[in-house]
Amino acid sequence: MENAVIHSFDVVIAGGGGTGLYAAIEACKTAKTAVLSKLHPIRSHTGAAQGGISAALGNVEEDKPEWHAFDTVKGGDYLVDQGAAMILAQEAVQAVYELENLGLPFNRTPEGRIDQRRFGGHTSNFGKAAVQRACYAADRTGHMILQTLYQQCLKHNVSFFNEFQIIDVILRDGRCGGVVALELSSGEVHIFQAKATLFATGGFGRMFKTTSNAYANTGDGPALLARRGVPLEDMEFFQFHPTGIKGMGILISEAVRGEGGVLLNRDRERFMSRYAPTLLDLAPRDMVARAIITEIRQGRGIRGDQRIDDYVHLDATALGKNVLREKLPDITGFCKTYLGIDPAENPIPVLPTAHYAMGGIPTDTRGRVVDENGGVYQGLYAAGECACVSVHGANRLGTNSLLDLIVFGRRAGKDMAGFVKDADGLWVKEDAAAAAIQQIDRLFREGRGPSSGRIREEMELTMMENVGIYRNAADLTRAVEKLTELRGRYQDVRAQDRRKRFNTDLTDLLELGNLLDLSLITAVSSLNRKESRGAHSRDDYPDRDDENWLKHSLAKLEKDRVRISCKPVDTSVWEPKPRTY
Ligand code: FUM
Repeated sequence: MENAVIHSFDVVIAGGGGTGLYAAIEACKTAKTAVLSKLHPIRSHTGAAQGGISAALGNVEEDKPEWHAFDTVKGGDYLVDQGAAMILAQEAVQAVYELENLGLPFNRTPEGRIDQRRFGGHTSNFGKAAVQRACYAADRTGHMILQTLYQQCLKHNVSFFNEFQIIDVILRDGRCGGVVALELSSGEVHIFQAKATLFATGGFGRMFKTTSNAYANTGDGPALLARRGVPLEDMEFFQFHPTGIKGMGILISEAVRGEGGVLLNRDRERFMSRYAPTLLDLAPRDMVARAIITEIRQGRGIRGDQRIDDYVHLDATALGKNVLREKLPDITGFCKTYLGIDPAENPIPVLPTAHYAMGGIPTDTRGRVVDENGGVYQGLYAAGECACVSVHGANRLGTNSLLDLIVFGRRAGKDMAGFVKDADGLWVKEDAAAAAIQQIDRLFREGRGPSSGRIREEMELTMMENVGIYRNAADLTRAVEKLTELRGRYQDVRAQDRRKRFNTDLTDLLELGNLLDLSLITAVSSLNRKESRGAHSRDDYPDRDDENWLKHSLAKLEKDRVRISCKPVDTSVWEPKPRTY
């Protein structure tokens, strides 16, 4: 492969979703800024976030940022860094009004204010009752955020490199000098040197067989950084959204329950009353997902037999056609397209689906990536789902993901703009792409090698069956062994298509390598944490254990093994309490 093409910017942002676009809007005010995206930005996975973005506007009923912060901490089973949660909730209000000013078409109250709806775990007065906090644009909130921010980026002349996939990060002696990317249309390798680089590459739900995540969610950012020695935080916490379409994993927004939809078992019982008597169907996602699995395990799924693809019903028939048409049009369409049913007339068959990574690249509240000793990597930033700031702790509340990417994308953008003013010049040399080029050359070598399709299938199944909603030592050990074997087989895979232009065989292989590394880190981190907290539920350690485990884990990938260390949780505002809803 030939030498790389070199570009120079003050700020380079890897990822064109909501985080990357908001950061770009801030950074480009004073810094020469580029966004690299492996898709066209408005096809980014932010667009799949349906139900809303939370902010204590108090437009429909009384609400306060402090209540929002508390719900976030309690929802995250007290593994949330509380100072970061306060920032999230306090800056939410301004962030939502800024989105409105940038042109986002929110649904409105009859008085013309931004309308708000209920969502899981969001309450008034520290848990007294569900509160209407989610600002929304029908069930297309993420999609509208992308459209709005992309238009603003174009207006402000941000440079876009669409269909550029990052394949390496340039990190020397604790300093980041930019990234290496593959131009998909030509197969050429490019070096993007920058004084500040933001990773905003999104999640990695594609390591599971059933997921709401887009095909592009392969964790490219965290995997590349892990390979360069950056530890990843709290990787054992992976959220299963309670309501994916059975057998497909396609997301049915929590907004259905926010608008009054209910979960029913085979006896048409509203079973959440047994698990969360106050919030019922609007309990946090970890609790609802576990309740669904428990109903099925105890024979109360719709089929009554957990051995045959059982499921429960999400009943939205009481909402009526008007609410479904006006507030949940996409969900209505999904049900018609994928299930052939009208949710106004029939209940929706649902099962939990792998949805969101609470863990990721550790950062401070300015978006700066930190190492295991709390030191800052110079010029290296991360925000959004690929990062762990940590505002979601052990379990994220619905609508806090769009908020996270707006609040911390904006903060990272501002910080980078300040940082590059005083930063040293660009220092990257032409050989910075050598490792990435070598990796591609290896995948292009003659021969057949093992089937990457089989490796991918085995990885997805291993993660689903052994590192899913309920976990135990035996399953997790099996997962670690299997993933280690799969990573070994991966070393010998070859691209069968050796053309340069739009070589999806090659990009699939690169992505598979990323997913395998993150799967191993997730499995090892899960085996390490011997308690149940939030989305990490161990049959063999069923209780939360604050004495021994109220700490973040940091996982460092060292070739074939993962080394785990820990760091304290910021509990400066609220003392951890047992979680009831
Ligand atoms: O259910 C939903 O609409 C998903 C939202 C979220 O993950 O925040």
